[in-house]
Amino acid sequence: MIKVEAIIRSQKIDAVKEALDAIEAGSMTVSEVRGRGQQKGITQQWRGAEYVVDFIPKSKLEIVVPDEKAEKIVDIICNVANTGNIGDGKIFLIPVKDAIRVRTKERGDRIL
Ligand SMILES: Nc1ncnc2c1ncn2[C@@H]1O[C@H](COP(=O)(O)OP(=O)(O)OP(=O)(O)O)[C@@H](O)[C@H]1O
Ligand SMILES: [Mg+2]
Repeated sequence: MIKVEAIIRSQKIDAVKEALDAIEAGSMTVSEVRGRGQQKGITQQWRGAEYVVDFIPKSKLEIVVPDEKAEKIVDIICNVANTGNIGDGKIFLIPVKDAIRVRTKERGDRIL
């Protein structure tokens, strides 16, 4: 199993969710996060003064899937969440040791 952890623009979450539903990868966790990438935040102007916004709000999407589905999900997120501008986000692929359904104690990728 692989956890696909994607940090993307919040306004792209709904479109990504719908695209993932279409390939039966509908279970996911979404959180509102703040972060910075290689530009280390953004510099803004306000009343003639410059100030730096260090951490920019983003949404984090976590989806645990069987190994063979991960690349398809990466593809979908890259296509749907892309605006072509800096700050479109990043995806991390993380190996998952096991998954357990609390209600039944079933394990493995069949519970995803
Ligand atoms: N190396 C990293 N570790 C953890 N989180 C990261 C890392 N890089 C980016 N992020 C997270 O992803 C968000 C979006 O990053 P962002 O898209 O700005 O990446 P980037 O590398 O700066 O690419 P770009 O040049 O397209 O902006 C960041 O705000 C941060 O939350
Ligand atoms: Mg950036």
